[in-house]
Formats: sequence, structure tokens, C-alpha cells
Amino acid sequence: MRPRTRVILMLACFLSGLATCGGAYAADALLPAHSYNGLALTPPMGFNNWAHYECKLNERLFVDTANALVSTGLAKLGYRYVNIDDCWMEMQRSPAGELVPNPQLFPHGMQWLGEYIHSKGLKFGIYEDAGYMTCQKAPGMYGHIEQDVKTFASWGVDYLKLDYCYAPEDKYPGKDFSQVAQVVYSEVSAALLKSGRDIVFSCSPPAYVFGKPKEFAEVMRWIGSVCNLWRTDDDIYDAWKSVVANYEGNVGLAKYAFPGGWNDADMLEVGNPGMTLTEQQSQFSLWAMMASPLLISTDVAKLSPAALKILSNKDVIAIDQDTLGRQASIMKQIGQVDILSRPLANGVHAVALFNKGEHAEKISVNVIAIGLPPGRYRLENLWSKQVSETRLMISAEIPARAVAIYRISAVH
Ligand code: GAL
Repeated sequence: MRPRTRVILMLACFLSGLATCGGAYAADALLPAHSYNGLALTPPMGFNNWAHYECKLNERLFVDTANALVSTGLAKLGYRYVNIDDCWMEMQRSPAGELVPNPQLFPHGMQWLGEYIHSKGLKFGIYEDAGYMTCQKAPGMYGHIEQDVKTFASWGVDYLKLDYCYAPEDKYPGKDFSQVAQVVYSEVSAALLKSGRDIVFSCSPPAYVFGKPKEFAEVMRWIGSVCNLWRTDDDIYDAWKSVVANYEGNVGLAKYAFPGGWNDADMLEVGNPGMTLTEQQSQFSLWAMMASPLLISTDVAKLSPAALKILSNKDVIAIDQDTLGRQASIMKQIGQVDILSRPLANGVHAVALFNKGEHAEKISVNVIAIGLPPGRYRLENLWSKQVSETRLMISAEIPARAVAIYRISAVH
């Protein structure tokens, strides 16, 4: 398509607000695309058990988590999805072909749990897989898409994380990875639109071609018109190495993000024992700069005051949740320090200086390097809350593995 035609089409599509405008996609047109279902206009926030609990889950965990999100004040700050990951169901469907929650783990069933979560003012999320089986070998949705979406809607589900283990590639001879995934995820996406509920759709195919640039680019061409967010990296685990790897995998993908379509760098490890508080704070800052979903995966009721303080930083949350929905990019690298910047709604910018190295670094960066014209600027450090003014340079000493994050606005 010629660029001019594409821009006109995009504009018509954008103005009409139609969910069916195929190809209405930020990556191609560099124009704001829109959420295919009108949902997740800012990155989803909440809880998912997987990173911390994996298959050690039961009804109690989600009831306690819902209660703790409310009692800690996190719910009020926007953490509202309570998402169940793999291992929630029986290994066989019912004789009628329905998915069956494991009755030992979920004795009251999923509708009850959904109602409980809703009664706390929160939203209910669940996990499935678009292939034959989930990654833990429970029944997948392939061949049961309409039926399963109806089941989820009847349980009051508000968010579906749809994984892509055991993909049904043998059913589509001649189609490549991206084409098969597109068929299957589009089918689920359409069924969700007809479900009668607002269901945020979290998808996984890009993560399955992570490290394969050609396939990855193919998947990224269509994913934003079918899903609200998509995993981009390997599974995160509670170690600095993993956080850096997922950051590196996600940070170059800004052109694909838009309000209602987010690059998902995976769950937060804040609150878990494997990283220092500095490292946890760095993950939180970087995820906010990358407009990644903020899904806590820890024992929320047992969060230390320090970890709770990280998760409750309203200024950093506001960067993640900024309504312009522009993911940060690396503007410059000085030694081990990445300098990231993203424009925010109302003309302000967010800037982060990330020291990946093992020693403190003194950094000075010119505002021009981060895309701002010369002038007077007000710099607000979002962790220390210190406010300063500068003409040209942003200077800071950044400890090892730390992130300094600022809101920067012109002084008139
Ligand atoms: C992985 C996925 C994890 C978790 C797990 C469950 O593929 O990336 O986040 O959902 O499956 O089996």
C-alpha cells in the first residue's frame, strides 16, 4: 500500500472508531492505532500468580490476594486485575466438552470466585492456551473456541491470557507460524467481541518467536489488531539477569505500542526475595517507561513496607499509565547507561537513566539528545521527589543497577 493511501485509510479508520479496520496498526503507519475492542487504553495493572507461585495455586490464594490488594491500597492505585494462570483446571473436559476447574483447588467453582473478586471492586482474569494443550498439558482451546469463550463469559471473566503451547500447526499445511497464529488468535478475538462481556485479550505468539527477527516482525504486523497486549520475551524469573534480559527484549519495540495494544515484558518480581530493593525499583521504573502491564506476582499480603512503597509510587505508575500510550525508546547510551525517553500527554516527557553496570556512574546528558529543544526545564525526580531546574544538561550519579527516573517539563 502506498504510504499516502495508508495514512488516509488510517485516519478514516481512526475517526470512525471501527473495531474492524484491519491493518489499523501503529507499526505500519506510525499513527496512533486504536484498541481493537476499546479496552486496555492504558496498560493493565493487577496480579498474576505464575512468576511466584507457578502451579501452587488455589481459591484461597486469589481470595487473599483480592483482599490484600484492597487492604494495602494497591487496588485504589489501579491494580485491579486478579489473574489466574495455568494449572487451574482438570486434565479432561467434561462429557459435554466443557472446561472443568479442579474441584480440590477451586471448591466453589469459577463463577463464585469471579463474583468474589468483583465484590471487591476488582476484575477477574483467567489463563488458557490457543493450541491443543496449555503449557502444563491441561486442555487447550483449539476446537472449542466458541464454547470456552461462552464458559468464561458465564464465569464473569474480564481478562483472558491466551498462551501458545502445542500450536495446531499440523491443521494448516502450507501456513507458517505467523499465519497459523493469526487464524487462531483472530478467531478467539472475534469470539471475545461477541461474548457480551468486556474481556481484555492478552496474547503470547511474539514470545514464541523471540530471537527470530523475521517471524517476530511477521507476528507484530497483525497482533495489535487482534489483541490488547502481547508477551514479547521469555518467562521472567526472580533474578536481575532475567529482568535485564526481558528489558533488552522489550525496549526496542516502542513503535508497536499504542493505547489498547501493549508490549508485555512479563510480570513484576517486586516483593520477591531474588533481587535487592534497588533492582526491584529498577524493574518497576523500566516497566513503567516501557508502558508494560504492571502485574504483581508475589504474596501481596506479606509485601514489606519497602516493596509496597515501590509498587505504590503514584508518579511512576502515572508514567506507565500515561494516556498518550507511547512506550519509551533508548535515545542514547553512555557506557553502561541507557538513556530512555518517552513523551507524555500534555507535552511533558519522562526520562530514565538506567545504569546496567556494576559500578556507580556519573552521567550528564544534553536535553537535545533526548529530543527536546534547548530551553529551561523543570526536572522532577520521581523516586527522591527532588525538583530542580536546568538549562541544557541532566546530570546524575546513578548507583549500580539503578534507574533515575524524571518528569521533565519546559519552564515558560
Ligand atoms: C508459559 C507462560 C507463563 C505461564 C506458563 C504456564 O508459556 O509464558 O507466563 O503462563 O506458560 O504454564
